[in-house]
Amino acid sequence: MTNDPRKRIQQLSDELKYHDHRYYVLSDPEITDLEYDMLYKELERLERENPELVLPDSPTRRVGSDLENEFKPVLHNYPMLSLANTYNEEELFDFDRRVRESLPPGEKVEYVVEYKIDGLSVSLRYQNCMLVTGATRGDGVTGEDVTANVKTIRSIPLSVDSSNFSSEADGNFEVRGEVYMEKAVFEGLNLERQKKGEKLFANPRNLASGTLKLLNPADTAKRPLQIFTYYYLSNVSSHKTQHENLKFLSKLGFRVNPNHALCNSIQEVLNFCKELEEKRDNLPYEVDGVVIKVNSFRHQELLGSIAKSPRWACAFKFKAKQAKTRLNDITWQVGRTGAITPVAELEPVFLAGSTISRATLHNFDEITKKDIRRGDTVIIEKGGDVIPKVVSVVIEERGANTKPETAPLTCPVCGSGVFRPENEAAYYCENGECAAQVKGRIEHFASRGAMDIEGLGTSIIDQFVDAGYLKTYADIYRLKEKERELKSIERFGEKSIDNLLNSIELSKNKPFHKVLFAIGIRYVGAGAAKKLADHFVSLERLMQAGEAEITEVYEIGEAIARSVVKFFSDGHNLHLVSDLREFGLQLEGEQRKVAVDNFFKNKSFVLTGTLSSMKREEAAERITNLGGKSVSSVSKNTDFVIAGESAGSKLDKAQKLGVGILTEEEFLEKLLSAEKL
Ligand code: IVH
Repeated sequence: MTNDPRKRIQQLSDELKYHDHRYYVLSDPEITDLEYDMLYKELERLERENPELVLPDSPTRRVGSDLENEFKPVLHNYPMLSLANTYNEEELFDFDRRVRESLPPGEKVEYVVEYKIDGLSVSLRYQNCMLVTGATRGDGVTGEDVTANVKTIRSIPLSVDSSNFSSEADGNFEVRGEVYMEKAVFEGLNLERQKKGEKLFANPRNLASGTLKLLNPADTAKRPLQIFTYYYLSNVSSHKTQHENLKFLSKLGFRVNPNHALCNSIQEVLNFCKELEEKRDNLPYEVDGVVIKVNSFRHQELLGSIAKSPRWACAFKFKAKQAKTRLNDITWQVGRTGAITPVAELEPVFLAGSTISRATLHNFDEITKKDIRRGDTVIIEKGGDVIPKVVSVVIEERGANTKPETAPLTCPVCGSGVFRPENEAAYYCENGECAAQVKGRIEHFASRGAMDIEGLGTSIIDQFVDAGYLKTYADIYRLKEKERELKSIERFGEKSIDNLLNSIELSKNKPFHKVLFAIGIRYVGAGAAKKLADHFVSLERLMQAGEAEITEVYEIGEAIARSVVKFFSDGHNLHLVSDLREFGLQLEGEQRKVAVDNFFKNKSFVLTGTLSSMKREEAAERITNLGGKSVSSVSKNTDFVIAGESAGSKLDKAQKLGVGILTEEEFLEKLLSAEKL
């Protein structure tokens, strides 16, 4: 063993890197955990004593690095597309036919078939063989920088061996894959939460996604994630097929799912899909189908992409998992809008990784249509991350004394009358003060996607509403007047009330669009709230707008516009909003700084052809936001034509007139940098 700390650090790093690969990628360790820990501790000690010698890809850099995530936007080098789905044999054969028809006759088509891992995709960029950026998919064009968190995933190499490449440029490449959480890890974390009485995570996919977006990488490291890689992108690679790339990824030290095959015909593909479907329950991770990719890159190029998915690949979705159980009861729940929805109370049954005791029955019509009755034996289904649902009744097993379900005549919570709006399947409670609605609205207001008030969950809201502390969400900001009284209630305790009041104060800084979402205007989800907030900038302006003006906002339709106008014509709501204003919530967004000089300001643009990253309307709106003009026809006054795929006569005209032309890529680059200003 060497005494030179520089050499020893290098040696230890190499050794640990090797053992990380054996353990996390190959699942075939050569040394015991204890032996590994000893090497690790020695490296940690040497690095502490010689901080100037720490290697950038040291195995100790994975956890607890003080580098926080920045979540800066990352423009993907190539868009991260999604896949078209097929659900049965016929659709799969259609896919094959379309592929063949689009290729020159007589070409031999091969497919690579891989599991579709139920996680979230990430892009990993390497420069000079070193991992430099890890990013989420985001909207496919721009993702979020989660490098520090990605580094905590032990099976992702922080660096790769340069001897794998023939030229230096090959050390610059991108790998894509699916980050996921193993079922056992997920269950373990949920068990811990259950013991502490905390809310359970819904499924491994959501938890993996939440974990990858934690601010502090040390927290991410505590919830171990895994990855399967399936994509290798390089400008200089000589590889010709996906199959070669999968092999190369393994060689570079990346983790590749071993359950893949190269198939010579669609029949072979189908057979392999069936094999994979049979094996799915025995896997330690969740999959939701199979991905089928045309193997040859030359073929992939010829096939190209439409809108957001490539024509050279598709997903074959597995059938949702079903189980048979008894419907013990039907209960009716009242939501924040007053909608009364039926819920199936089931004899608990284990299905696809969790025990299910409740399922949705959607609405009364659905119950009638399927003739679902209390006491029936039913088939339930769980697909992806959707709530389980009752699919059908096993009529042969129906008892003698069952009765068809009747529609609710009164609200099951407050006993008020109910009504059913025309063209709607749901019944509604007509009492806006109904406790269930009040609780639902407050819950929504405080929820994660809205004001995100930590410590104000369902059970505390229930208690506060029942005790009369909360009647509306505005009352949340009056709780601090009752601080002493609340602290004297035994089951809460001083500390938790302090924490709660603190997070209530903090919520006052939430941006305007979150507030707009939180106040619960019907049909205004998080996305619509953001669009409205961006457009109108202040609540004041939105309140003054009429339906017509609101529908002018990109992707805002009549139903939303009508609902917004209705909301602000209700005296009770106006009162609430004015209370929120008084409490100091953000009812104004940041004024757009159009005055800032940017590429688009005072220039005129014509959009033509199909953009793969966004709709033309959106592009136009973003140009306008930057002080540019988007016009429909090309003239000599046009500054630039933005040419998407299959741009036609407008592009020709621009060329004739000598008007500047931007490709989609150039446009995006300029757009994103201008929007950052
Ligand atoms: S290929 C255009 N391969 O499925 C190519 N994707 O709907 C798309 N996914 O966003 C990526 N396993 O998150 C590919 N073996 C696999 C995959 C896979 C899971 C996910 C990925 C992607 C989504 C596409």
